[in-house]
Amino acid sequence: MDRAFEGRAALVTGAASGIGLAVARRLGQAGASVVVADYDEDGAQVAAGELETSGTRAEPFVVDVTDPGSVRDAVRFTTETFGSLDLAVNNAGVGGPSMPTGEYEITAWDRVIATNLSGVFYGLRHQLPVMAAAGRGAIVNMASILGTNGFAGSPAYVAAKHGVVGLTKTAALEYADKGVRINAIGPGFIDTPLLRETDNPVRERLISLHPQGRLGTAEEVAEVTAFLLSDRASFVQGSYHLVDGGYAAQ
Ligand SMILES: NC(=O)c1ccc[n+]([C@@H]2O[C@H](COP(=O)([O-])OP(=O)(O)OC[C@H]3O[C@@H](n4cnc5c(N)ncnc54)[C@H](O)[C@@H]3O)[C@@H](O)[C@H]2O)c1
Repeated sequence: MDRAFEGRAALVTGAASGIGLAVARRLGQAGASVVVADYDEDGAQVAAGELETSGTRAEPFVVDVTDPGSVRDAVRFTTETFGSLDLAVNNAGVGGPSMPTGEYEITAWDRVIATNLSGVFYGLRHQLPVMAAAGRGAIVNMASILGTNGFAGSPAYVAAKHGVVGLTKTAALEYADKGVRINAIGPGFIDTPLLRETDNPVRERLISLHPQGRLGTAEEVAEVTAFLLSDRASFVQGSYHLVDGGYAAQ
């Protein structure tokens, strides 16, 4: 068993479900202690309980990533509970409605940008000083293939994910000489609760966009996340890694 994260403390946002939950499990399997942070209080408790049962030190924490104070408290909770913050995954995100840009609801725009872009910034804003002071740390920001490709009907999501890629590169430049690595992941469409709301014809269309002819799994994204957080990725800095079954190669 890979114990790459033995003795390390991880903060994963959006960890009650989908990709975040798979990441929390994967990091825990490799020895990390994990703060399962989510605004779904029950979901965070269930997830942390499941991790504990399988031998991972895990604590739930209720965070709203659209609130900078709440994100600051999640970082503080991690260092106070586990003694350090070595790994962070800024993963919490929402899909938002599907509407053309000229009709997109302003309230939906604000919510998607607040969660998917500002939420990642607030994470970096509070994680980076702690990691820089310790002289080490690794962060993964969950972008999307829509961090570099457009997608009709999703202006807020696409804009936010493009923003996450730019933010990742910038923070990576700033903290490269301080022992902190920051990278982003660009998943294709992944079979998680975020997508399960979509009706069957839409789902079939999404599947058809992937040359591998299927959606990805949360575990496949978690595997690359774990690699980027590990010392095996020691020279990987400020980059964006697709996990997309060939989507963006077309
Ligand atoms: N599923 C996909 O196809 C896909 C593809 C590319 C990128 N992503 C990205 O991966 C990340 C995880 O998505 P998922 O598919 O696992 O979705 P999901 O809906 O299964 O999980 C998202 C989690 O984030 C939490 N969350 C949402 N808003 C929050 C907030 N303000 N504060 C705290 N927690 C909040 C939710 O409660 C939920 O537990 C998102 O950033 C998403 O944009 C998903």
